[in-house]
Amino acid sequence: MVPEKYGFILLYLIAIWDLGSGENVTVKFSKSSLDIEVRENHTLIITLSDNLTRDADLIFTYSDKYEDVYSNILPIPNISIDSKEGLTSWQINVVGDNPGHVILGLDSNSSEIQDIKKAFVRIDVVHSSPLVIINAVIGWIYFAAWSVSFYPQVYVNWKRKSVVGLNFDFLCYNITGFLAYGFFNVGMYWVKEVSDEYFRHHPRGINPVQLNDVIFTLHAVLITSITIFQCFLYERGTQRVSYVCRILVAAAWLFAGISLVVTLVKKITWLTYLYYFSYIKLGVTLIKYVPQAWMNYKRKSTMGWSIGNVLLDFTGGSLSLLQMFLLSYNSDDWSSIFGDPTKFGLGFFSILFDILFIIQHYCLYGGKNPYEEITDKEVEINASTTESSRYSY
Ligand SMILES: *[C@@H]1O[C@H](CO)[C@@H](O)[C@H](O)[C@H]1NC(C)=O
Ligand SMILES: *[C@@H]1O[C@H](CO)[C@@H](O)[C@H](O)[C@H]1NC(C)=O
Ligand SMILES: *[C@@H]1O[C@H](CO)[C@@H](O)[C@H](O)[C@H]1NC(C)=O
Ligand SMILES: *[C@@H]1O[C@H](CO)[C@@H](O)[C@H](O)[C@H]1NC(C)=O
Ligand SMILES: *[C@@H]1O[C@H](CO)[C@@H](O)[C@H](O)[C@H]1NC(C)=O
Repeated sequence: MVPEKYGFILLYLIAIWDLGSGENVTVKFSKSSLDIEVRENHTLIITLSDNLTRDADLIFTYSDKYEDVYSNILPIPNISIDSKEGLTSWQINVVGDNPGHVILGLDSNSSEIQDIKKAFVRIDVVHSSPLVIINAVIGWIYFAAWSVSFYPQVYVNWKRKSVVGLNFDFLCYNITGFLAYGFFNVGMYWVKEVSDEYFRHHPRGINPVQLNDVIFTLHAVLITSITIFQCFLYERGTQRVSYVCRILVAAAWLFAGISLVVTLVKKITWLTYLYYFSYIKLGVTLIKYVPQAWMNYKRKSTMGWSIGNVLLDFTGGSLSLLQMFLLSYNSDDWSSIFGDPTKFGLGFFSILFDILFIIQHYCLYGGKNPYEEITDKEVEINASTTESSRYSY
């Protein structure tokens, strides 16, 4: 009779032996993303980090399905691994079939391969490869146009030494919007806890926030702050932030504050919290131009409101819409435009306002001086004379 404790020792030794023999094999693809044209044939390499001890099959999955009749690439023959062969890498040919996106992944009946779900290639099958490059170029141009679009207003203010004609509600909404968007972007991009959570929900997704989004927003916050600073420095007439705007912006920050408490007591996740900021940004984008358009209408002038800003914003907005269309065409995926109307709708909405400003500037009020510019000054002069007269007499 074997004493019980020897049995345990035996089990323990078997366990150690089992761990030591390739129980920690990983697999990877030679690329993590791939753009190919329809009918293009591209070679990828799959590598195992070590030999397996038992025979196994490597099975290809297409966006988590084993077989997809509508798949965008031709089916790839599964790989049978013969453990005695000593092979640890294989070539596969990926051939584009239909435009669209597919995630090529792996599965296996072997328990030796760890984290097999982490091995995948994001494949975009496109109508045309040159269009992929054209789209990237368009992306950089609208990034530049939008980034530069803040400067003409700063210049106009500095040149006139006046901010009369620039609506303060617009600035107030704008800084709120960019700060909210900045929190969202910085959180998604730099806070590991948040991005980890995002990838738990979208295991094979791409972070929706890229580095240029982060840079764009931080830059926007900086320049908008400078513009606001100019309002304290230069002549501003009787302009002030309206009560409606104060209430709306206070409500937005109150909402953010309350949500922060809710997040701290762990009722909602940080990711959800950051999404609330993106809703603030959406709301702001819907209303921010309204006060400026109304003010131009009342003054019958666009003086003080930089048309350079509008033209650059219009350029950026149109190029971004154009890019959305080209991207959708190139991968036959219109769901990103019509499936997610927010991005498209907001872009379109901003462009409509830009067109309105262009009409106001070039057609309706044609660079005319506002009639109240003089009255404003007179009021001020009157006020200061009364003031000075009060003191001199
Ligand atoms: C597997 O190997 C990696 C290094 O290649 C090591 O960091 C990891 O801890 C190992 N995992 C297990 C379960 O042994
Ligand atoms: C892809 O190219 C390889 C050679 O590089 C060839 O063996 C294979 O048949 C090609 N596949 C298709 C579908 O053209
Ligand atoms: C996986 O399946 C293949 C047959 O499809 C078989 O030869 C192999 O032994 C299996 N491997 C494991 C670890 O079950
Ligand atoms: C690979 O294996 C899966 C699961 O067994 C099977 O559904 C699929 O048809 C195989 N693919 C090919 C190309 O043989
Ligand atoms: C797998 O085994 C073969 C011989 O059987 C050897 O040449 C090769 O280097 C091994 N691969 C790895 C990654 O250890």
